[in-house]
Amino acid sequence: MQELIADKVHDEARQGEAFAPGSIAIQQYKKHFYIESYGCAMNFADSEVVAAILHSDGFGATADTNKADLILINTCSIREKAEDRVRKRLTEFRQMKRTRPGLIIGVLGCMAERLKGAFLEEEKLVDIVVGPDAYRSLPSLIEEAGGGQKGVNVLLSRDETYADIAPIRLNSNGVNAFVSIMRGCNNMCSFCVVPFTRGRERSRSAHSIIKECEVLLNDGYREVTLLGQNVDSYHWMNETSNVAVTFAQLLEKVALISPLLRVRFSTSHPKDITDDVLVTIKKYENICNYIHLPVQSGSSRVLQMMNRTYSREWYIAKVDRIRQLIPDCGISTDMIAGFCTETEEDHLASLSLMEYCKYDLAYLYFYSERPGTLAAKRFADDVPLNIKKRRLQELVELYRNHSLISMQKDVGKTFKILVEGPSKKDALELQGRNEQNKVVVFPKEKYRKGDYVMVKITGCTAGTLIGIPAPDFRR
Ligand code: SAM
Ligand code: SF4
Ligand code: F3S
Repeated sequence: MQELIADKVHDEARQGEAFAPGSIAIQQYKKHFYIESYGCAMNFADSEVVAAILHSDGFGATADTNKADLILINTCSIREKAEDRVRKRLTEFRQMKRTRPGLIIGVLGCMAERLKGAFLEEEKLVDIVVGPDAYRSLPSLIEEAGGGQKGVNVLLSRDETYADIAPIRLNSNGVNAFVSIMRGCNNMCSFCVVPFTRGRERSRSAHSIIKECEVLLNDGYREVTLLGQNVDSYHWMNETSNVAVTFAQLLEKVALISPLLRVRFSTSHPKDITDDVLVTIKKYENICNYIHLPVQSGSSRVLQMMNRTYSREWYIAKVDRIRQLIPDCGISTDMIAGFCTETEEDHLASLSLMEYCKYDLAYLYFYSERPGTLAAKRFADDVPLNIKKRRLQELVELYRNHSLISMQKDVGKTFKILVEGPSKKDALELQGRNEQNKVVVFPKEKYRKGDYVMVKITGCTAGTLIGIPAPDFRR
């Protein structure tokens, strides 16, 4: 057991997903690409930008590596294990290259950025290495690689947001879509590699975000998740009016597109989420009452070493405020067990904070030192692995108790569910999520993907609510 992953929509939950051709029909193209994505939602959203860039360059998508002229792997560096998975996968791709010399293999994303040209030394059969801000250069790098040259572009940018590129949705259920609203991160959490792999924070134009959401709505999508490492610091200056748009204002603009379009967002940094954002969530029925508010540790001493810039008390006050303003708000978190110097007392503080917050969802990890980060430079990774794992296990067990209680509390309630498709286990049942991001399964009856259905909860398992349609129920 290494880490607990509670939800598919969140980051490391989605590992190594290839995609089906979707809207790019295979037969129209002479060249085909295959892409496999790892890491957070932002990386998956980036793969959709990459698909659009390749599409304009004459590439069709394929989900079959045997049919691909170009194999891309969009990588994650967040923990050592994430990188190990990519290396393992690259070994398999290398085998393919031995029998198909014309095949081009490219490494994209955070690992490409972290290792840069060293990747070509390390992985001799990789042809191109492209960082997260350099995807526009893919066509020229692919052309050079076709001529036998190796190519690297890992330049980070201060202004690239790919705002003008309409992403091609990959593996889409046609209901939920990710929309990137910003890139990079200006926080320097000492454990985290993201500021180094993704560069400085920059916000995408509000116009282009709204346009993308409108197009999605017209294409039948019913839910958008606005993505950024720290969405509450979204700040875009409208150069025509000279007026800045904040995250609360952006949320409102997206919510106003249509009451049929549900709005989610991730991730909120506890130091930056404002009352304005909470009030906006409360004001619009289509903004989901759900906040992902990573705490990382329950010990103020550890939080300070992590450079999170808030204390345990500050965080608790934030959770209290959320619950005061939005009583039925789902709250989830990320926590790290066994950060440098963490004592049993610090660990107990994490457990007691978890006990206080009673999270609906939690993503729990043990600390993995990342080269080049502030923590790697300043602190010894001194908590033994067996202790990290034991502490993680204790967090996982407590979280599981809370999440089961949270599910049980929902029995008897009625929620508005956005249908995402058939249930995985039974074709006669549908699956969707409530505002609080919980998966709900119920009999199909006359309902279809993309419908909103009032569902009365009649039972639950540890991870799923079970219900029956209650069409006459009014909130
Ligand atoms: N920007 C978000 C935030 O500030 O909470 C999260 C970014 S990161 C992609 C997702 C999660 O990975 C973090 O919240 C943290 O819990 C975990 N993480 C990041 N670096 C880690 C490390 N070196 N070891 C273990 N977990 C890590
Ligand atoms: Fe990493 Fe912290 Fe930025 Fe999140 S806010 S991406 S944890 S540096
Ligand atoms: Fe995301 Fe992993 Fe990069 S979590 S930002 S893909 S390091």
